[in-house]
Amino acid sequence: MTDSAIIRAMPAPATRPSTSVRPLLAIETSCDDTACAILAYDGTILAEGVLSQTDHAILGGVVPEIAARAHLDALPTLVSEVLKKASLTLADIDIFAGTTGPGLIGGLIVGSSYAKGLAMALHRPFVAVNHIEAHILTPRLPSLGADLHFPYLTMLVSGGHCQCVSVEETGRYVRLGGTIDDAAGEAFDKVAKMLGLGWPGGPALEKLATEGQDDAYALPRPLKGREGCDFSFSGLKTAVSRLIDTQDPTGSRDALPRQFAADVAASFQRAVADVMADRAEHALTLSPNATALVVAGGVAANKTLRHALEQVAADHGIPFFAPPLRLCTDNAVMVAWAALERLHAGETPNEIDTAARPRWPLSERTPAIPEHVS
Ligand code: KG4
Ligand code: ZN
Repeated sequence: MTDSAIIRAMPAPATRPSTSVRPLLAIETSCDDTACAILAYDGTILAEGVLSQTDHAILGGVVPEIAARAHLDALPTLVSEVLKKASLTLADIDIFAGTTGPGLIGGLIVGSSYAKGLAMALHRPFVAVNHIEAHILTPRLPSLGADLHFPYLTMLVSGGHCQCVSVEETGRYVRLGGTIDDAAGEAFDKVAKMLGLGWPGGPALEKLATEGQDDAYALPRPLKGREGCDFSFSGLKTAVSRLIDTQDPTGSRDALPRQFAADVAASFQRAVADVMADRAEHALTLSPNATALVVAGGVAANKTLRHALEQVAADHGIPFFAPPLRLCTDNAVMVAWAALERLHAGETPNEIDTAARPRWPLSERTPAIPEHVS
């Protein structure tokens, strides 16, 4: 497996954190990124690392079995590198956390079992973290300086998830809507593929769109103006596919004129941003007490989308916040922080006997399925 490694360390602490700091080590393996992070009890990031699996690009998407094996290969080295960067040893870690769902089950089992194994060997507690909860709590990380207070509204847009959630307090989330077909990132990836771009397609599509006109083609805005906050992208995807067929009936995408492809990319991106803004607008009318509008997940990297949501927030007189890109895409800092939020709320979780699960709705507060039942 070829990996592109990014191991980041915050400026190394001059001395080891004092025992009162209680470092927590977290592992994230729910899709194709293997990630580990160590945070102090107050949320200070002591070190973090992400290994992005690149083999899937050749195959045009994430292959779950390959991803799970790659996590297993990567974890031992990644964990020791991150510990080294934080100037800590395993014995200094007071709590372990791992993503136990939702996601690809093979990877979830590998990562959470690894974290549980460390917790058991060191007689420390293990906190089972919901991946979606981690994405939506990340903007509260103190070092980001957003000073976000409950309740706030999060548009979670990634390759696997597309939801609009009112974050009422730690552990209490109201899902106002979600996608009824593809996730936003999935739609970006599929349209990018139709345009002959690489995988993951979102960043490549955004780049190509800078050369195009966003009003070149009148694409549909699915569910725009409808009640509620659900999303749908399959009609938009089909419209793009038909449009491309008019230029390239043979299906050989190499033949697409560059200007045409750029105009399609820009028009598609505009349509997604318009729909998102409309859904956020509806969400804010449903939760008028929201103190801020937040966007999270990999697609939050998209500048057109960010600007559209920023405008909605401004119209409602509330702040808009998007975490830095490395904390929008999958990472372990968010997993550690979600576990710490529970500790700060006075919980003392030890969930070592809970199973990894591919589906885990936010409404289910704790991963209630014991290991031996699943
Ligand atoms: O959150 P993430 O890293 O992983 C999942 O949990 O899915 O999100 C990955 C998704 C991919 O679909 C990728 O194409 C999309 O985020 N993405 C973007 C951009 N950067 C990443 N989509 C649109 N524009 C971008 N700049
Ligand atoms: Zn994610």
